[in-house]
Amino acid sequence: MNVLIYENDEQIGIAAGNYMCGQVLQKPDSVLGLATGSTPLKTYKQMIELYKSGAVDFSKVTTFNLDEYVNLDVNDKNSYHSFMHENLFDYINVSEDKINFLDGNAEDTDRECINYENKIKNAGGIDIQLLGIGSNGHIAFNEPDTCFQRRSHVVELKESTVQDNSRFFKSIDDVPTKAVTMGIGSIMQAKKILIIATGKNKAEAVKQLINGNVTPQCPASVLQFHADVTLMLDKEAASLI
Ligand code: PGA
Repeated sequence: MNVLIYENDEQIGIAAGNYMCGQVLQKPDSVLGLATGSTPLKTYKQMIELYKSGAVDFSKVTTFNLDEYVNLDVNDKNSYHSFMHENLFDYINVSEDKINFLDGNAEDTDRECINYENKIKNAGGIDIQLLGIGSNGHIAFNEPDTCFQRRSHVVELKESTVQDNSRFFKSIDDVPTKAVTMGIGSIMQAKKILIIATGKNKAEAVKQLINGNVTPQCPASVLQFHADVTLMLDKEAASLI
């Protein structure tokens, strides 16, 4: 694992945005796996900056997002669909028909998950997967005790995740308790992984990710088995390693 430690999240955003855009420069029709949450915001800002400066062209890129809430309108401000448009897609030239999300409102979510996996396969697989990490060690919505083999599936969110995500909602009762997510099996198929963690509340999970046993109790620990992982940390997130 390539572990890089930065002074602050500004620096990480620049480095991570450059890394993602470097992938697109090397392979203009790259398939990017994208993440939501607070962590990638500055990464997306840098990707937008580089696009505006003319350094990178996203017109041939395909994207797959990691996850989406179940039973939340896609146009709700808290849907991951809205998040990605507000923080990246509306400012770069990615083609709308090459943007992919799991549909959390699909009538048959199991079928939806199978279709999503097939779409990823037909696109040639994910070239680079961007990830954050939950304070409980989750990646995407693969919560502790997940099965490492699973592909996209429906999950019941743990209380700690609902609590973490409640900061975006009016009240904790408004936070969806279910989501559709790419599984650990899907994430491990990505050719490269870029994972970012910032802040003290991620330090314990980062310690488990790097130095802990590989165990479904810390889903992110599985990344020790992936051949091409870059982990970008600020000093606080790196404080226990
Ligand atoms: P955060 O979430 O970036 O909002 O901290 C990360 C995650 O839960 O994967």
